[in-house]
Amino acid sequence: MTSTAQAPLPGAKTAHPEHLGHVIFIAAAAAMGGFLFGYDSAVINGAVEAIRSRYDIGSATLAQVIAIALIGCAIGAATAGRIADRIGRIRCMQISAVLFTVSAVGSALPFALWDLAFWRIIGGFAIGMASVIGPAYIAEVSPAAYRGRLGSFQQAAIVIGIAISQLVNWGILNAAGGDQRGKLMGLEAWQVMLGVMVVPAVLYGLLSFAIPESPRFLISVGKEDRAREVLKEVEGDRIDLTARVAEIEHAMKSEHKSTFKDLLGGSFFFKPIVWVGIGLSVFQQFVGINVAFYYSSTLWQSVGVDPSQSFFYSFTTSIINIIGTVIAMIFVDRIGRRPLALIGSVGMAIGLALEAWAFSYDLVDGKLPATQGWVALIAAHVFVLFFALSWGVVVWVFLGEMFPNRIRAAALGVAASAQWIANWAITASFPSLADWNLSATYVIYTIFAALSIPFVLKYVKETKGKTLEEMG
Ligand code: GLC
Repeated sequence: MTSTAQAPLPGAKTAHPEHLGHVIFIAAAAAMGGFLFGYDSAVINGAVEAIRSRYDIGSATLAQVIAIALIGCAIGAATAGRIADRIGRIRCMQISAVLFTVSAVGSALPFALWDLAFWRIIGGFAIGMASVIGPAYIAEVSPAAYRGRLGSFQQAAIVIGIAISQLVNWGILNAAGGDQRGKLMGLEAWQVMLGVMVVPAVLYGLLSFAIPESPRFLISVGKEDRAREVLKEVEGDRIDLTARVAEIEHAMKSEHKSTFKDLLGGSFFFKPIVWVGIGLSVFQQFVGINVAFYYSSTLWQSVGVDPSQSFFYSFTTSIINIIGTVIAMIFVDRIGRRPLALIGSVGMAIGLALEAWAFSYDLVDGKLPATQGWVALIAAHVFVLFFALSWGVVVWVFLGEMFPNRIRAAALGVAASAQWIANWAITASFPSLADWNLSATYVIYTIFAALSIPFVLKYVKETKGKTLEEMG
């Protein structure tokens, strides 16, 4: 390894403030994929009831139409790494932007239920791709000292996407007279909700033309000179660029293009590090975060909130989610990923346990008693806050940077697919679990939050301040 790589914090010494502005722009542009990820996965909530009535379907079919997008996500995440290695990170973003656009138009103007489901799968595929390419690309272009903070742009964009989709849905709903099937610009309100996504999708596509290809990809296809230019663009010229290129080249020489086969090893099918990535993904989902976002209206109503106000509380959770994400962005490169994850696990376990306690009380007229109702409401916000300042950000940052170069793309794909499957398992099982016993459901999520503590302590290594070459 070269002397540059051995410096304790290579990025800290090298990142020029003027370059930092440029790197921030690059990371923000790439994170547009995260925005679409958050927007697209949350937008459907505003349209669910209209789709149910428009196609006259029962809850089970409806749940499948919604959950099917998550399967598209898992496939998109699994294939993005390979596509990115073959044709480049930027092209991969462009494919995802095109798919987002096509899916927005298709789902806004479906002929029937089957093609609505089809367009949702295509949208899911695009989300899956964006969920992998964002963190991977940002990790590859960021100077080490800022990598956590820049990597957290992805999660910041996801949470902003969720919040904006709620706001836009609310605006559209109001404009259509409070009816999801009310007419607006010749369409029904829910169609407009799904169609509006064309705007950020096209923007994502355009922005991808304004940012450089990743130096690691350029080196892998023999374009060292261009790689040097990009490194200069992002790290400044106070480092020895030739040595930096040589370092990356050296790290890549000992490797070949990562394939699924490279992930195998040891006695447990995958290599241990791949399991750690899968574990991080699964724990992130098994604490039930998306129940808080996908089913919030239902939850608030059972607490006693008036249906007309449930939007308000869903939105306050989104704001808390954004605030928590900003806190994480401040601390992720200062105190590191591991301590944040541990603090978050403790806070989430407390919030979830309080929810389990509150929901253990019998409903009176469909509502919790006043004290328990308040506890449930506050505990849900505490839970989201702690999730956002820890696992929300930290997992995407970890997945972008924790794997050795040799297996990064493929391993990230597997870990991200695992995350989408885990997300699907939680979202699809929640309605039945809640019917069975809401309090017990929260006990299960609490147990996962508690188990994530020994998992991090035993298996997760800190990645703060290391160059990607030092990871493996
Ligand atoms: C993370 C999760 C995603 C969730 C979001 C909520 O990005 O991966 O599933 O919706 O956080 O903020």
